[in-house]
Amino acid sequence: ATPLVIDTDPGIDDALAVLLALASPEVDLRLVTTVHGNVDLAQTTENALRVLHLAGRSDVPVAVGAATSLVVPQAERAGHVHGAAGLGGVVLPPSPASVDPRPAVVALADLLMTSDEPVTVAAIGPLTNIALLLAVYPDAAARIGRLVVMGGSASRGGNVTAAAEFNVWADPEAAAVVFRAGLPTVMVGLDVTLPTVLTEAGIARFAAAGEVGARAAAILRQYLDHARSSYGTDGVVVHDALALTEAIVPGTLRTVRRDVVVDTGPGAARGQTLVDRRTVSASPAAIAVAEGVDSPAAVEFLVSRLVAYGDG
Ligand code: BDR
Ligand code: CA
Repeated sequence: ATPLVIDTDPGIDDALAVLLALASPEVDLRLVTTVHGNVDLAQTTENALRVLHLAGRSDVPVAVGAATSLVVPQAERAGHVHGAAGLGGVVLPPSPASVDPRPAVVALADLLMTSDEPVTVAAIGPLTNIALLLAVYPDAAARIGRLVVMGGSASRGGNVTAAAEFNVWADPEAAAVVFRAGLPTVMVGLDVTLPTVLTEAGIARFAAAGEVGARAAAILRQYLDHARSSYGTDGVVVHDALALTEAIVPGTLRTVRRDVVVDTGPGAARGQTLVDRRTVSASPAAIAVAEGVDSPAAVEFLVSRLVAYGDG
């Protein structure tokens, strides 16, 4: 199985992404690193511990990352989307585990330097930790096998502002550092996540799949209520879980190598990922931008893996 790290800010779809990874034999979740984002760092860390415990995997180390963005603190959290405590108002049982004593970048660097096999890193929150890794441990960062980022948008505009997707908006300077680093990066942006919607019918299929399925369904149903009232959509956009699907099964998404620039200016486009869609890039620093998705197949993959929690 491919060694995997999830860098995350749980977060409803983050929680789902972690549960998906733990249900997938193709990957071996070796480390979770936490970051500020949807809610504050203390809460994302607590949520990460609790989600792992829910799945019976409190053995997976959780290392605490950045509490704030590199340059400009995030203007507001996303409690209105994810609930004040980040998991849609659902309170999961506390984990007996405590956090790893190492800061996230140290834990990440240790794993990258000691792994015999290339490590996949799924970054599904603001990119602060990955930017810090590049700055502090460039040799370790250079060993990343694949970096799958949920973030940005090539053609759909933003979801926080007209221009910016949340994870890039939350720390544009970090995203700029990561996107120009020349790492083997896949950008899973709103282009592919917005059309990938988990409906109540899908949720109902795993709602009886043991404790994990029941809790996941409860968390998602809160999000469903938000989606209905805010966007009028009849389903949950599971951004981070789609990024994990690409991390678990490379090639799930159709990608095209593009030059990508992150707008870090103070204007209305701050946090925009400016994707040059005119040509396929030959640059070694190009990003594999996800432009095509079979959404029904991706949702089926997610649902079937969650249903399997009912077997054991
Ligand atoms: C991203 O923003 C967060 O709210 C979600 O968890 C996801 O990572 C989507 O824009
Ligand atoms: Ca997230």
